[in-house]
Amino acid sequence: MRKYIVAGNWKMNKNVIEAQQLMSQLLDYKKQNPSNCEVYIAPPALYLMMAKEIYENNEIGVFAQDMSEYESGAYTGEISVGMLESIDADGAIIAHSERRQYHGETDSHANRKVKALLDKGLTPIYCNGETLEQRKSGQHFEVVKNQTETALFTLSAEEIKKVIIAYEPVWAIGTGETASPEQAQEIHAHIRSLIAAKYGQEVADEISILYGGSVKPDNAKEIFSQPDIDGGLIGGAALKLEDFSKIIEAFN
Ligand code: 13P
Repeated sequence: MRKYIVAGNWKMNKNVIEAQQLMSQLLDYKKQNPSNCEVYIAPPALYLMMAKEIYENNEIGVFAQDMSEYESGAYTGEISVGMLESIDADGAIIAHSERRQYHGETDSHANRKVKALLDKGLTPIYCNGETLEQRKSGQHFEVVKNQTETALFTLSAEEIKKVIIAYEPVWAIGTGETASPEQAQEIHAHIRSLIAAKYGQEVADEISILYGGSVKPDNAKEIFSQPDIDGGLIGGAALKLEDFSKIIEAFN
């Protein structure tokens, strides 16, 4: 059975006091409200260790927002998978569209990063999704296919089963414009069918595919009710417990 997941990508938000407050609030909430899905956060790298200390019993999964494809060395500003492993982090988001847009991340980079995480037993949350232009010109199925194949299809069946995929149409991120549940579902089903064609249906059925892009308390339930949508990667609405908790409760 695949996992249902609500993951909060905090992006570049919150000072240390605010980060600690939200992490603690989320822990208290989680203790009082057992959820039907797994809950993860991806705070800025600076706060990952603090998150691991607050969630000492792994109540909430802790993910980096990116990491280097290299093991160590002269890569100023980067963090490595070995560093994440050494603080017992759960994994990292890979190839978020903002990393693609502002830092030249490609699916070839993503491929190496995903493999580096899996080799150390950590979990990648691999992001893909088309731009508005690509959607308008009807290329979205093809774009997502190429991205997924380049980033993931060198993996073995055992490896790909451990990857979480997040479909995040770029035009829906931070814009308040969400893909309709039907638009999201058809791409999720498409991604799952690509995996099924390459690795078999059983493998495809085990992979959690999350939707990201303006998920809010008032649309989460409808989005998550689609058969191939196994949860969400949440940006803005992950920054306040009030909103994030309602999204978690969309699985109840
Ligand atoms: P928003 O929920 O703010 O649209 O961000 C989505 C996202 O990019 C999550 O990674």
